[in-house]
Amino acid sequence: MIRVAQDTVTITDNTTGRSVDCPVQRGTCGEPVIDVRALHRELGLFTYDPGFGVTASCRSAITYLDGDAGVLLYRGYPIEQLAERSNFLEVSYLLLYGELPTPAQMQAFEHSVKRHTMVHEHLNKFFAGYRYDAHPMSIMVGVMGSMASYYHESTNIFSPSDRDLTAHRVIAKMPNIAAKCHKYYLGQPFVYPDNTLGYVENFMNMIFSVPAEPYVSQAVAVRALDLLLILHADHEQNASTSTVRLCGSAETNPFACIAAGMATLWGRAHGGANEAVVHMLQNIGDVSNISSFVARAKDKGDSFRLMGFGHRVYKNYDPRAKIIRQACHDLLDSMEGIDQPLLETAMELERIALEDDYFIERKLYPNVDFYSGIILKALNIPVSMFTVIFALARSAGWISQWVEMIEDAEMRIGRPRQLYVGAAQRDYVAMDARR
Ligand code: CMC
Repeated sequence: MIRVAQDTVTITDNTTGRSVDCPVQRGTCGEPVIDVRALHRELGLFTYDPGFGVTASCRSAITYLDGDAGVLLYRGYPIEQLAERSNFLEVSYLLLYGELPTPAQMQAFEHSVKRHTMVHEHLNKFFAGYRYDAHPMSIMVGVMGSMASYYHESTNIFSPSDRDLTAHRVIAKMPNIAAKCHKYYLGQPFVYPDNTLGYVENFMNMIFSVPAEPYVSQAVAVRALDLLLILHADHEQNASTSTVRLCGSAETNPFACIAAGMATLWGRAHGGANEAVVHMLQNIGDVSNISSFVARAKDKGDSFRLMGFGHRVYKNYDPRAKIIRQACHDLLDSMEGIDQPLLETAMELERIALEDDYFIERKLYPNVDFYSGIILKALNIPVSMFTVIFALARSAGWISQWVEMIEDAEMRIGRPRQLYVGAAQRDYVAMDARR
C-alpha cells in the first residue's frame, strides 16, 4: 500500500504490516521523486522498473526536458534560443560549466580547445588496423577507448584540473577522430586540423578537403551543422549518457566511459536512428508507398517501426525536431542543385502518421532524428557518418555529465538489483545420472 503526504510517501508491506516513510524530493522543475533508499533497509524490498522508465538515477543540473510540454532546456536556457543565438562551442561551455561564458571566458575556452585539436601521432596508426570498410562507429568506439593510453592525466579523475583538461581534450579531438574515421573509409589522407578555422569549419575541412584541391566550406552548411551539434549536445539521462555515468561510477577513466556511451549510442533505437531514417525513406522510395510502410509499422506481427518516430520521454512534438524541420527547409531551399525527394517523402510520411489513430493514441511524434539525416545528406555527409556526428555533439554532454557525477557527493558505483526468476538452489547432478 502506498500513502502520499506532503513530503513523504509511506509504503506499507501488506504481508508483514511494516511501513517505511520515504521522503519526496523536489527539483527545480519536473516531477518530484520518491527517495526509496530506505526501502530495502526497512522492508527488505527492491523496486522493479525495467528500462528505468520511472527511476531517477541521479541528481543533475545540466539538462531538463518536459516530454509532455515539448520543452528542452540546457542549464535553464530554452533550446530554441540556443539554436538561434548560440553556437556549439558556447553550448559546450554552458553544459560543462553551468553558465554562459563572458567574452574573456569564451576566448580562453576557445583557445584551449584549439590547442588540443591534434591527436597523438601514434594514434593515427591505430586506424590502419581496421578493415577498409569498417563502420565509422566501430572505429570511433575503439579509438576513443584507447585515448587514456595517450593522455594519462585522464586517469586522475579526482583532480579538478585534470578533469578539466580531459573535458577540453574530448571536445577538441572529437572532430579530428570523427573525420579520420571517414577519411580512412575513403582511402584519402588524413587532414590535420587548421586552428585558424572555427570549430565546425575545421571539422568540415577535415572531412571534405583533400591535398590536391582547395576547399572552402559554405557558410550555410557550417551553420546547419553547427545547429545539429547544438541540438544533439545533451539530452538528460538517455541510454548513452546513463552508460557513461554507470561506467564512470566504477571510477573508470573518462575516455573509456565515453567509448561505452558511443557504443550505446550506435544502436538503432538510439543514435543509430538518423541513419535508419534515411534508409527507411530510401526504401519507401515513392510517396505512393507510404501507406504500406505505415501499415507495417502498426502491424504487431512485423518488427518494422517508423524510424525517427516516438520517444521514451517526448509525448509531444520533440522540440528539436521542430527546429530541425524548419532548418531542413531553409537549407534545402538555399542550396542549389539539391534533390529534395527524401524531404518530400519525410513530410508526407509525417503528415500521414500524425493523422493516424495508432500514432495519435500512442503519442508518437517525429523525433530529432527524423529530419537530421536529411540535413546531413544535403551536406554531403555519408549516411554511415550520421551517428558519428551525433556522437561528436553528444560528447560535450557526456563529458559534462561525467564531471557532474564525479563531483556529486552522493556518487556511488552503479549497481542495479534484479527480480530473480531462475531456478532455486538445487544440487549438481553427475553427467551419467542426467535424463
Ligand atoms: N513505430 C511504430 N510503433 C511504435 C514506434 C515506432 N517508431 N515507437 C513506438 N511504437 C509503439 C510500440 O510498438 C508500442 O505500442 P504498443 O503500446 O501497442 O505495444 C508503443 O508505441 C510504445 O512504444 P515503446 O517501445 O514502449 O516505447 P519506448 O519508450 O520503449 O521506445 C523508442 C522509444 C524511441 C525506442 C521507440 O519509439 C522507437 O523504437 N522509435 C524508433 C527509433 C527512433 O526513432 N529512435 C530515436 C529516438 S530519438 C534520438 C535519441 O534520443 O537517441
